[in-house]
Amino acid sequence: MEKLFSRVVGMRCVMVMAVGLSALGMSAVAVGGAGQAESKAGGGLRDAANGKVLIGTAVMAYQLQDPVIGPLVSREFNCLTAENEMKPEAVQREKGVFTFEAGDKLVAFAEAHGMKVVGHNLCWHNQMPRWNWEKDGQPLSREEALANLKAHIDGVAGHYKGKVVGWDVVNEAIDDGPGVGDIGLRNTPALKAIGEDYIAKAFEFAAAADPSAELYYNDYSNESGQKLERTLKLIRSLKKAGVKIDGVGMQGHWMMGWPSTDVIDKAIKAYAAEGVKVMITELDVDVLPRKQGGAEINAVEKGGADPYKEGLTSDMQDKLAKRYGEIFDVLRQNKESITRVTLWGTHDGTSWLNNYPVRGRTNHALLWDREGKEKPAYTAVKKELEEWGK
Ligand code: G3I
Repeated sequence: MEKLFSRVVGMRCVMVMAVGLSALGMSAVAVGGAGQAESKAGGGLRDAANGKVLIGTAVMAYQLQDPVIGPLVSREFNCLTAENEMKPEAVQREKGVFTFEAGDKLVAFAEAHGMKVVGHNLCWHNQMPRWNWEKDGQPLSREEALANLKAHIDGVAGHYKGKVVGWDVVNEAIDDGPGVGDIGLRNTPALKAIGEDYIAKAFEFAAAADPSAELYYNDYSNESGQKLERTLKLIRSLKKAGVKIDGVGMQGHWMMGWPSTDVIDKAIKAYAAEGVKVMITELDVDVLPRKQGGAEINAVEKGGADPYKEGLTSDMQDKLAKRYGEIFDVLRQNKESITRVTLWGTHDGTSWLNNYPVRGRTNHALLWDREGKEKPAYTAVKKELEEWGK
C-alpha cells in the first residue's frame, strides 16, 4: 500500500511517496522493529566490525521509512549521520525558531537499533542562513555574530545532549586556494564577521553546550598537500589555545585513482601524531569522469560523460571492489587511530554524486546498487571488516 505523507526539512514541507505505514513516528518504530530483528540476526558490516570500529552511514530521516533502506541501515550500520537534517539551515532557518523533528526521527531510529549518532554540523559556510553573519549584505558586528553562533550551538547541541556521541563542530573551514591568515582559512561569512577565531569559539561553545560530546573538525581533500598541512596547523592552534578538539574528520570523497592509499596512510598517521582521533566521515568513491576531486560544492561542472547509465560493467564492479578493499585495508592497518568509518549514503540511488559535480548522472559510488543489492565492493569491504573485527 502506498501512502503519501509529509516530512519537514527545515521550515519547508516536502511531500514524498513512501510505501507502508501511516504516521511518520509510528513507521519509524515499525520499520525499526523489523530491522532490529534483522540486525539481531546479524551478518551485516556492523557485526563484521565486531565493535572494533564504528561503521556509519549518512541518511535522511525520511529514507528510514523506505522498505529497502530502513532494514539495510539497521542491519549493516551502527552509527548514523543526518545527511542534512541537523545542519543549521534545517534546524534554525529563521532566527530563534528551532526545528528538530527530522533529526529527532533519526535519533529515535538509532536508539531503536542500538546505533550511535554523530551530529553534522554546527557551523559551515554552506547550508547556514546568512542572517547568522550578515545584515543587508554587510557583516554583523563581531558581538552580534558571536551571539548568533552561541545561540545556535546552545540550541542544537543542547537539544541533542546525551543523544549524539560527537559533533562536526566546524565543517570545511580551510581554503583550497590562498586563504586567509597564517592557516589559510576559507574567507567565510563567519570569518568576515567574527574573525579567524570563530573556529575556536565554535568549539568552545560546543564544549560548554554538551561537555560529554566529542568535538570534531571535518573537511574534504585534507589527506594531502596544503590542506593536510593547514589542518594540522589548525589542530595545533586550537590545542595551543586550550580548546577541546577530539577528532578530525577526513570526509573521504574519493575517486577510483585518487588519492593513493599511501597518501591516505600518511595523513592518518600525521593526524594521529597530533593526538586526535581520526574518522573517515563521508566515504564514497566516484566512478564517473570529472575535472577535479574533493567536494567543493560550488565547483559544479556541465556536460560530463555518463557512461554507466544502464549499470556498472562487471569490469568496473571489480575495479570498484578492489578500490574499496584497498581503502579499508589501509584503514585497518591504522586501526589504533581510526574510530569510525561512515559511508555518505546507503545504496547508489541515494548518493549526492548523482548530482555532483554534474547534475543528473548515474553514479555507482557506494556498496549497494539501486535495488539495495550488495555489490562486489560490499563483499570486499566486509572481508576487510571481518579481519578488522578479529
Ligand atoms: O531542502 C530542500 C527541499 O526543500 C527541496 O524541496 C529540495 C529540492 O531539490 O532541495 C532540498 O535541499 C537540498 C538538500 O540537500 C536536502 O535534500 C539541496 O537542494 C541540496 O543541495 C542538498 O544537498 C546536500 C549538500 O550536502 C548541500 O551542500 C546533500 O544532500 C548532502 O549529501 C551534502 O553533504 C555534504 C556534507 O554535508 C559536507 N561535505 C560534503 C557533502 C557532499 O556535498
